[in-house]
Amino acid sequence: MLQVVVAVVSSFFGALPLAAQIDHAKSLAPYVPSPQVIVDRMLEAAALKPGETLFDLGCGDGRILFTAAQRYKAKAVGIELSKRLVEQVREAILRQNLQDLVSVKEANLLDVDLSSADVVTLYLLTDSNAKLRPNLERYLRPGARVVSHDFEIRGWKPVRVEEVHAHRRNHKIYVYQIGKTK
Ligand SMILES: C[S@@+](CC[C@H](N)C(=O)[O-])C[C@H]1O[C@@H](n2cnc3c(N)ncnc32)[C@H](O)[C@@H]1O
Repeated sequence: MLQVVVAVVSSFFGALPLAAQIDHAKSLAPYVPSPQVIVDRMLEAAALKPGETLFDLGCGDGRILFTAAQRYKAKAVGIELSKRLVEQVREAILRQNLQDLVSVKEANLLDVDLSSADVVTLYLLTDSNAKLRPNLERYLRPGARVVSHDFEIRGWKPVRVEEVHAHRRNHKIYVYQIGKTK
């Protein structure tokens, strides 16, 4: 059964670039990095400002974190289930000397306190976003933005949806603002 689920999810995202060591029972999405052009558009759409705090829930190789810190001087926090990816992000933080702005935590994103976030970025699945939605509603303050690559947050009204062509397909970027989701 699990193989069938993984196969369906994998075909949804395209081929998995590499196998991540993860607890499959807790996994809310396979590891598929957002193309850099999509990362750039997500952060633009989030109107991220210097000094704000961004959480990338399921941060993969950390590309959203590093772009947020380097380009926007934002504080960037990654949450990631895969130990291997967490180690990879930690090494990149040290290599780029970004300890003051970027951090990563090995954790289930459903267990994390999001109250310090001004911006939350997601590239999960629609059903995973549905599991996360109660936490977003509980923790985020009015004005906080949630930007989701390709998968909507059911029951929330986006303030904007952008379409971007990259890597031979159209991607959607859903932009939500707390206080304006109804
Ligand atoms: C589609 S990738 C997105 C990576 C990155 N955010 C990006 O856009 O490039 C989803 C990531 O979420 C991680 N993930 C899946 N379930 C998770 C969970 N319950 N808690 C934390 N991370 C999770 C996966 O290991 C994977 O790295």
